[in-house]
Amino acid sequence: MTLRVEKKHAKALLEALELSEHYKPFQEVKRRVFRKYGLLGTRYDRVFTALMYRLYRLQGILDRIATERAGTNPERLPAAIRQSLRLAVVLGQFDEANDEEFNTTLLRYIATIIAKRFGTSYADSVVKLYQSLRRRPWTPTTRRERIELEYSMPWILIDALRKLLPWDEIKLFANTINTRSPILGFRVNILKATAEDVLKELRDMGVDAWLSERVPNHIRYRGAIDYQRFKALEEGKVVPQDEASTAAGFILGAKPGERIYDLCAAPGGKTTHLAELARNKALVVATDLRPDRLGRLQDLALRTGTAPSIIALVADARRASRLLRGAANRVLLDPPCTSTGSLAKYPEARWRLAPRTIREHVEKQRAMLLEAVKLLRPGGRLLYTVCSILPEEGEHNITWLLENTKGVELVPLSSPYEQSPLLRGTMRAWPHRHYTSGFFYALLEKKS
Ligand SMILES: C[S@@+](CC[C@H](N)C(=O)[O-])C[C@H]1O[C@@H](n2cnc3c(N)ncnc32)[C@H](O)[C@@H]1O
Repeated sequence: MTLRVEKKHAKALLEALELSEHYKPFQEVKRRVFRKYGLLGTRYDRVFTALMYRLYRLQGILDRIATERAGTNPERLPAAIRQSLRLAVVLGQFDEANDEEFNTTLLRYIATIIAKRFGTSYADSVVKLYQSLRRRPWTPTTRRERIELEYSMPWILIDALRKLLPWDEIKLFANTINTRSPILGFRVNILKATAEDVLKELRDMGVDAWLSERVPNHIRYRGAIDYQRFKALEEGKVVPQDEASTAAGFILGAKPGERIYDLCAAPGGKTTHLAELARNKALVVATDLRPDRLGRLQDLALRTGTAPSIIALVADARRASRLLRGAANRVLLDPPCTSTGSLAKYPEARWRLAPRTIREHVEKQRAMLLEAVKLLRPGGRLLYTVCSILPEEGEHNITWLLENTKGVELVPLSSPYEQSPLLRGTMRAWPHRHYTSGFFYALLEKKS
């Protein structure tokens, strides 16, 4: 049955699209806007959410098509026009529902809003772009374009994956990140609850939940949870976390009496895990460049009951050894990266990938790695982990570190995931193999 579109629906969708360019992840902004317009949980919510996912997964291809057909690159236009042009391409070329009446009414309202704010010529471009694609769909002209379209990924990413995976697995990877993750998870806070109790509570609510087979005290589940009834989150008994993130805490480990530095710590999922593992009897110093994100870490520390053993400091990890006094038993370095391991959650991140962005990340990560090593006491351990599938941010950084630093060696990892084929002793978690984000791990030890 056709969904009846009114002006307020178009307004809500455009507002969500415009705002989601500035706030990540886009899902949070979208929820806020849809709640404001009374659409949350309705059929409009489902249809518009699917449209937004498609728009972000295909963004680079949509911009190419719009540039070819409308003569202007959406990248150079104000956000509202840019997103409207992208929407016109999604509806004109990639609309699975194929509902002409819905599409034209929605675009007519969008065009009215654009005309009011920016003039009729932009509004006309939006409508004409849609009509042109309905009359004559766009077709890829090169092999690369065909593959990019088939996988909804830019060539730069496909090229990076080719170094780590065979072609058939790249396809599986693409299928996994281009469908909404069916499996989510919680880490159970062992200071406040047992995994069995939380599992029982979830199952009593009818949630399809089970204990992770790979990572202790991690619960995985499918479907939605009614948070009005599930109090464990508010009470700090669980922390929403990807299984591959929970794994990081176990790989590094933490014991009572130790000094632990978490250099890029916010919003604190891993910091609070380390504090928990040491039963609140270690000193965990959590640094981050962003005070607002450290505020979230402090809230989480209070909620999980780990605040007594955590000190939060605003600091640049590239200068950490000048700011932190005392060598550490363990250091965690989970630096900012391209987020190419989280493309299901941040679908637009793939289109931001460029050689320059990768170089900038790598430069910062290497500066932080050198600092992290300086902070270790003899026998101390450093876990370097990134939510990235790029060898540049993973294996290449560690090879570089081992070649440029004396006195550290790899502690081989092969569990709970699989060794990287590019650097023996390092490990990777994969969305299509483990239903987690894509993570890289290297554990290093300073020689005594
Ligand atoms: C991948 S996130 C860390 C996630 C965190 N480890 C967790 O598990 O919740 C990277 C963090 O690094 C912070 N960051 C960026 N540049 C930094 C710098 N130069 N020094 C310290 N932190 C930085 C960001 O603000 C962000 O919070």
